[in-house]
Parts: sequence; C-alpha cells; structure tokens
Amino acid sequence: MAPDSWVVVGGWGAASTEFSEGLARRMMLHLVKPVFKLFPDDEEYVRIEEDIDNIKGAIVVQSFEKPASRSLVYSILIADALREAGVSNIVLMAPYMAYTRQDRVFLPGEPISVRAVMRALSSSGYKALASIEVHKDYVLRHFNGPTLNMFPFTYMMREAGVSCGEDTIIVAPDIGSLPRVERLARETGCTSYGYLVKERDRVTGEVRLVKSTVDPRGKDAIVVDDIISTGGTIALASQWLLEKGAKSVVVLAAHYLGVGDAEEKMVRAGVSRVITGNTLPRKPSKIVAYVDLTGLAASQLVRLVYSL
Ligand code: R5P
Repeated sequence: MAPDSWVVVGGWGAASTEFSEGLARRMMLHLVKPVFKLFPDDEEYVRIEEDIDNIKGAIVVQSFEKPASRSLVYSILIADALREAGVSNIVLMAPYMAYTRQDRVFLPGEPISVRAVMRALSSSGYKALASIEVHKDYVLRHFNGPTLNMFPFTYMMREAGVSCGEDTIIVAPDIGSLPRVERLARETGCTSYGYLVKERDRVTGEVRLVKSTVDPRGKDAIVVDDIISTGGTIALASQWLLEKGAKSVVVLAAHYLGVGDAEEKMVRAGVSRVITGNTLPRKPSKIVAYVDLTGLAASQLVRLVYSL
C-alpha cells in the first residue's frame, strides 16, 4: 500500500469521481472530495474544504472527460490548491488523458497539443503523471518528471472473462495499435495476430482500409485499440474482418468516448461486444461493458508513489 499520510483527491466529473472512490478504497487511503463550482461566466472554481495540513502527498484523480478543457483547468487548479496547502508530492492520475492524439504537426499551422498540455501540467506542480493506455508512449516525455503508462488489456481480458483459444486472432485496426496487440499476444499466449492499415483524411476525418496482414477466416477476432471515439475505425475493421470470413468480432478499447452514433455504427458493422475501461463516464449501452481499472491502477501507483 502507499505510505500513510497520502490521500486521494477526487477530480471533477462522473468518471473521475467513480475512479477516485475505487482507487482510495483499493489503496486504503483517505479520499478528499473538493467542491467544484462554476462562476456565472462559466469560469471554473474549486475548493478543498478539508484540513489537509499534515499530509505527505496526494494522488489527484482527474480524467480528461468532456469537455477536456474543463478537466485540464480543474487539474491545474487542484494542483495549485494543494501546493497552497503545503503539499509538495502531487501525482496526477489521469485515467484518460486527452490531447494525446495531436502529437505532431499533421497540417501546417497546428500545435503539438500534447506537448503544450504536458508543459502546463508539469509547471502547475505535479511531480509525477500516471495514465492508462496513452495514445503513444513517447508523448509522456513532454512531462517534466516520472510517468507511468499502464497497459490495461491483459487485465481487461481476464476481468471480462475473455480468453485466447485456438480460433482466436488478435487484430490491430491500424499499425499504431500493433505494439499493443504484440504485447497482449505475448502476455496471453495468443499465437495468432496481425494488423490492418488505415488511412484517415486529415480534413474530413474519414477512414479507409488500405492493407492487411491477417487472414481471419473461421476465427474469432479480438480487435484492440486505445480509444473509440466516433467508432469509425472499429466499424471499418469489423466489417472487413467479417467480410473476410471472421466468425465474430469483439473489441477491447481502453477508453470509450462513444461520440454521436458510434454504437449504432459498430452494431451495423457486426461488432458483438465492446469491452472498455471505466476511464470515462459510463454510457448505457447494449454492447459496451465496462471493466473497473482501479485495481490495476492501485497496484501500479504504489511503486510510483514510493519513488518520489
Ligand atoms: C487513432 O490512431 C486511434 O488509435 C483510434 O483508432 C482512433 O482515435 C479512433 O477514433 P474513431 O473511433 O473516431 O475512429
């Protein structure tokens, strides 16, 4: 367990509240619940009303739930309130970290958003940053301090009772997801895996498949991705896999944003089940099932906290 006199601080929003409660329980730490309000002009306000004078450190749980900019502002304000109260060891646990997909300049004139956000978090007082399945590992290098990127898929498969049988094939819906698939295959002993190659129109956001390295005939496919946003990537992959003879398609995605008609799109494309983490607010759904990732986070955060 983490050292005594550390606390968990619950961030703003439904997912952050749920995750902080689970984490505090699992780490057997006191949970501090700040008060969140908006000024009449929608400016964010936060106050930690509890006396936190003698604590050694705080794990702030703030997921980047919608609107991500509000989550960002709250994470900065909470860090400042903690520093003001004399807490020097502050760790940000962001179950879902936004802005990570804009990790380079795709079109002239764009920022590297993830770098800007990491710089803001570093300078606001966070000593360490932990998250779950950040889009690409290397983006964490922009944070000035120790970081932890938790790999949730093996844990999710176990918790959801999904196993790798003789007829299972693990599929990356794009080349970016291949390292996830390789690691998951290694950790589950799954010998059959591969990837698809997609192209995204940078202006319209439309995706299309241009290549594949898998033969899904007669297989139960498990498609693995970091995030489902509009569902376009998964729908495309599922449709292709079923057309090429896959028996079924189950999806493992660390984060589920489920924007617009994402669920209908995936159902239409033949996806039978989506397993995701509780990193973003839960949405009622016929095919999406949530796995509680606080157990995974608690076991990995202990090491980070001790290293400070
Ligand atoms: C992209 O590189 C990501 O790994 C996801 O595949 C993508 O962001 C999913 O977005 P959507 O659901 O809108 O296709």
